[in-house]
Amino acid sequence: MKFIKLFSVCLLLLPFISCKDVAQTKSDAAIEKKVEALLSKMSLEEKIGQMNQISSYGNLEDMAALIKKGEVGSILNEVDPARVNALQRVAMEESHLGIPLLMARDVIHGFKTIFPIPLGQAASFDPQVAHDGARIAAIEAASVGIRWTFAPMIDIARDPRWGRIAEGCGEDTYLTSVMGVAMVKGFQGDSLNSPTSIAACAKHFVGYGAAEGGRDYNSTFIPERRLREVYLPPFEAASKAGAATFMTSFNDNDGVPSTGNSFILKQVLRKEWGFDGFVVSDWASASEMMVHGFAADSKDVAMKAANAGVDMEMVSYTFVKELPGLIKEGKVKESAIDDAVRNILRVKFRLGLFDNPYVDEKKPSVLYAPSHLEAAKQAAVESAILLKNANQTLPLQASVKTVAVVGPMADAPYEQMGTWVFDGDKNHTVTPLNAIKKLVGDKVQVIYEPGLTYSREKNPAGISKAVSAASRADVILAFVGEEAILSGEAHSLADLNLQGDQGALISALAKTGKPVVTVVMAGRPLTIGKEVEESAAVLYSFHPGTMGGPALADLLWGKAVPSGKTPITFPKAVGQIPIYYAHNNTGRPANHDEVLLNDIQVGAGQTSLGCRSFYLDAGVDPLFPFGYGLSYTTFKYSNVKLVSNSLKKNEVLKVTFDLENTGKYEGTEVAQLYVRDKVGSVTRPVKELKRFTRVTLKPGEKKNVTFELPVSELAFWDINMKKVVEPGDFSLWVAPNSQTGEEVFFRVVE
Ligand code: NOJ
Repeated sequence: MKFIKLFSVCLLLLPFISCKDVAQTKSDAAIEKKVEALLSKMSLEEKIGQMNQISSYGNLEDMAALIKKGEVGSILNEVDPARVNALQRVAMEESHLGIPLLMARDVIHGFKTIFPIPLGQAASFDPQVAHDGARIAAIEAASVGIRWTFAPMIDIARDPRWGRIAEGCGEDTYLTSVMGVAMVKGFQGDSLNSPTSIAACAKHFVGYGAAEGGRDYNSTFIPERRLREVYLPPFEAASKAGAATFMTSFNDNDGVPSTGNSFILKQVLRKEWGFDGFVVSDWASASEMMVHGFAADSKDVAMKAANAGVDMEMVSYTFVKELPGLIKEGKVKESAIDDAVRNILRVKFRLGLFDNPYVDEKKPSVLYAPSHLEAAKQAAVESAILLKNANQTLPLQASVKTVAVVGPMADAPYEQMGTWVFDGDKNHTVTPLNAIKKLVGDKVQVIYEPGLTYSREKNPAGISKAVSAASRADVILAFVGEEAILSGEAHSLADLNLQGDQGALISALAKTGKPVVTVVMAGRPLTIGKEVEESAAVLYSFHPGTMGGPALADLLWGKAVPSGKTPITFPKAVGQIPIYYAHNNTGRPANHDEVLLNDIQVGAGQTSLGCRSFYLDAGVDPLFPFGYGLSYTTFKYSNVKLVSNSLKKNEVLKVTFDLENTGKYEGTEVAQLYVRDKVGSVTRPVKELKRFTRVTLKPGEKKNVTFELPVSELAFWDINMKKVVEPGDFSLWVAPNSQTGEEVFFRVVE
């Protein structure tokens, strides 16, 4: 199922155009008129009420009383259509001006039909997957009356200890920008006005993923250049793609909490990017400015948040309580309130809420529609990454007559959905065990012995049982990983090895001498070097959602061929973190042939190891680099050619290459284009992803592929903090991952 239309066209024109057309501009003007007319009728209290978001607290009557007084602009966490309509009716019919409520919910990777976690979707390197996932989430969520989601999360994250790495698109700025835009388009559809569209919320603005030590909510220290190079571009792309709202982040960056940061909210978001939607603070992040030691009391909170450019406050209630007094005292200008309310009303008008405030309770359910399940399965197929496949263990052949299915994730319907699943029902989840049984029928005997019942369990007796089951099988399929609770908000980890006895389970299984196929279902990259060594094949599936089971079964038996690539570097050891491919060069980069710990002679001289930048115990290379992933087939890159290797700043770089399927299966390769600016007025990353494309080839088929890159996209924030393209020498690589590929040179001239 494809939900393409306008989206594909806009995507091609990425990164940085707006898809608004003339009709949109006209309707914008009409909306502005309506906003002004309504604003002129509103009392100060009603205006401030629009800036207040409450979380549903169950009792309809209490909420109705507030709504009647005009004290609520939005409610989060109401998912019963009858209740949504009842509350909306109070707003429309019993409040003074009849301003509709905006109903919100965290619909992060699906409402009922759960797609792979966003990190998994990113592994597909397929914006269509991200788009369709968001579109389906919107259709399902809107069908119960939700018109605003707090997604996409487009925080760059380079530290897998951070539990929220699961919710984003990984470490790369360009990949995150492309996937984020696709999600915005998916949520918002062709027009926000459609009853199946929901407003997107680009979050968390900004820098949240750089939490020190990977500990959630922790402070960040991102200097302006890095902020602009790495963390801001996905948000700029989301804003240009029309994301209706933004959410401030919890962290304080260089001492300033985002909810009180006028530089990011006013200077960057409004002035530089021209954003005209509204900004909501994250849950209580406004009042938490007191805990940070940035605001003295709730009055100080309201003043700092409102003056910084927060339009709506999520559950902190300081606006409602304090803004009237602050305005009287002249500490917050009424014009600032007017601007905030304009931003909120504009989005409500764009959503068509004034004309269609109610959800149709009689419509047939779209929840878990077959087409939605099919799309979720396809997303899970494309998200899986084949990390190892010794002796072509996979796909399993007809000669495999008995498989042992083991491990705590083989039949864990709730856990495989991953983090941020408030509405998905585990009874609709298809686990690998069930899917395998269905797929193989009576052709293959399936012996199920989990060994461990949950990922943190320690149970040597269980391992013995699994080993004895495994000894009766031709192949062992070991499903390990993380329970859903181990990643996501506030769920950071200091140790990224497999939890509990899972490592011991894999070791014990490997000792049987039977081929072990390890399937990892997790919310983050784990340090699985030992398990990779011990396994014949490894398939990594970031929590794959409702249809993870059928997707994995198809992949294991070759009904589908893996095509996912790592959207994040897999470290060998936690001590290597942060480890990411787009780092700057040190003056003494590693040679990759360094002598490591066990080979260093006792009494070796101080400088005998060469004075390079690496860890004595872990080297410099990751377990798996960014962009890495195998297929059942093989691909050959050749004939990389630049149409011109000397380009002016206004020209477009064109590189062509041949991609050939040299193996036996039809497969899809994610070809990647990386660039390096060799010398800059400030140091530049050793590689930066600039383009990628999925190419499907039959066995023996060869295609000539072209990447086009406007030279303007080589711009960076120079020594004077201006975004410029500096003339000079560049390298590029067309490659299957960030660590390989033939280096080709070109020059940018004045
Ligand atoms: C806090 C989280 O940080 C944010 O991502 C989420 O949208 C809000 N809570 C609302 O649940």
